[in-house]
Amino acid sequence: MISSVVAKGLEGVVVAETNISYIDGQKGKLYYRGYSIQDLARHSNFEETSFLLLYGHLPSSKELQQFNSELRSHYFILPEVIQIIEIFGKSSNPMDLLRVAVCSMGCFEGLSNSYNVEKNNEVAKKLIASFPTIVATLWNIKHGKRLVFPNHELSLAENFLYMLTGKIPDRDSSKLLDMLLIIHADHGMNASTFTARTIISSVSDVYSAIVGAIGSLKGPLHGGANQNAYKVIYNDIKSADVVDSYVDNALASKQRIPGFGHRVYKCEDPRAVILRDTSIKVADTPEKKRMFEITRKIEEAMVQKKNLYPNVDLYSPSCYYSLGIDVDLYTCLFAMGRISGWCAHIIEQLKDNRLIRPSDIYTGGLDSTYVPIESR
Ligand SMILES: CC(C)(COP(=O)(O)OP(=O)(O)OC[C@H]1O[C@@H](n2cnc3c(N)ncnc32)[C@H](O)[C@@H]1OP(=O)(O)O)[C@@H](O)C(=O)NCCC(=O)NCCS
Repeated sequence: MISSVVAKGLEGVVVAETNISYIDGQKGKLYYRGYSIQDLARHSNFEETSFLLLYGHLPSSKELQQFNSELRSHYFILPEVIQIIEIFGKSSNPMDLLRVAVCSMGCFEGLSNSYNVEKNNEVAKKLIASFPTIVATLWNIKHGKRLVFPNHELSLAENFLYMLTGKIPDRDSSKLLDMLLIIHADHGMNASTFTARTIISSVSDVYSAIVGAIGSLKGPLHGGANQNAYKVIYNDIKSADVVDSYVDNALASKQRIPGFGHRVYKCEDPRAVILRDTSIKVADTPEKKRMFEITRKIEEAMVQKKNLYPNVDLYSPSCYYSLGIDVDLYTCLFAMGRISGWCAHIIEQLKDNRLIRPSDIYTGGLDSTYVPIESR
């Protein structure tokens, strides 16, 4: 039995003061550093939003130019990191490969703690810039394709699509990916961000905190939900006619439908609203239209039958799909956006750090007598 003083899942527990992002779960609003997600998604770009998250203000053009050139100087990853991806490439899933790659970057850098603030800022930029390279590289290695090296003329989003496909992307595609990265860049005290803050609170190093965050994001209750949402829509449901019975069965058997529900939002997740509108716009083939129709029907059924609203992971699959990206990369794409928020939170945690060390209620015995192994 759970004691009433235990906040299971830390629900409602306040663990930090932050000025990075704010979620109004009653009104369905999200702000990064005071700017609404709608405004940023419409007007900003991922590099500018990353700057905003890291430094707390929108950059001047000189600051942005400097930030962009620093990011671009970090596009290349070490050949040794590529070799490590190659070792695990065929047999591991992309999120595990991303984790291994970041872990190995940390080993090559050799940081033992996070006392050096300047170094932490440098590592943050390196990680933001290298995630697209790692993800494209692991994909190309996994599928026996030729490696495409980064192009310093391109933005982060353009560069990712270029490395993945070997072709310079068209403007609409890179703009769409850029917007998706912005949408995923931060989200309050979510599980992976809390993991990162917990790890750095022992004054461990930034790479270790990011490795932990990747592990947390991978789970199906967090970032892994986008891949599962795709599978439900494409593989399990397949036709709008069976949506109602699928949802009825899932709810009756207490199964969770990925892409729905949220700890904080009690109404529509504003990111889901933006992505739903985008999904309609990008549905330019019968297949994409069909996918949108199924997703919309699941949404209607879940709201009606369970009063549960979609979260960010319901409509992001149709956006990634429209870019021709394989479902196995969807959670990595989430990480490519969230890396900025993770780094901003790590830096914020260190500014006013205290070791994160919650309490528990012990429910075991206290009077056990040790019995030698041969007598058990
Ligand atoms: C996100 C999530 C983990 C939040 O969980 P939580 O705050 O602990 O919510 P709870 O587990 O307390 O759920 C509350 C109720 O809603 C139901 N519920 C929540 N999400 C559900 C879902 N996706 N499908 C079906 N039922 C769901 C629970 O079964 C529970 O119902 P009950 O009260 O009748 O038992 C949860 O909604 C979920 O598992 N969603 C699916 C995975 C997902 O999309 N994750 C991405 C989040 S951005």
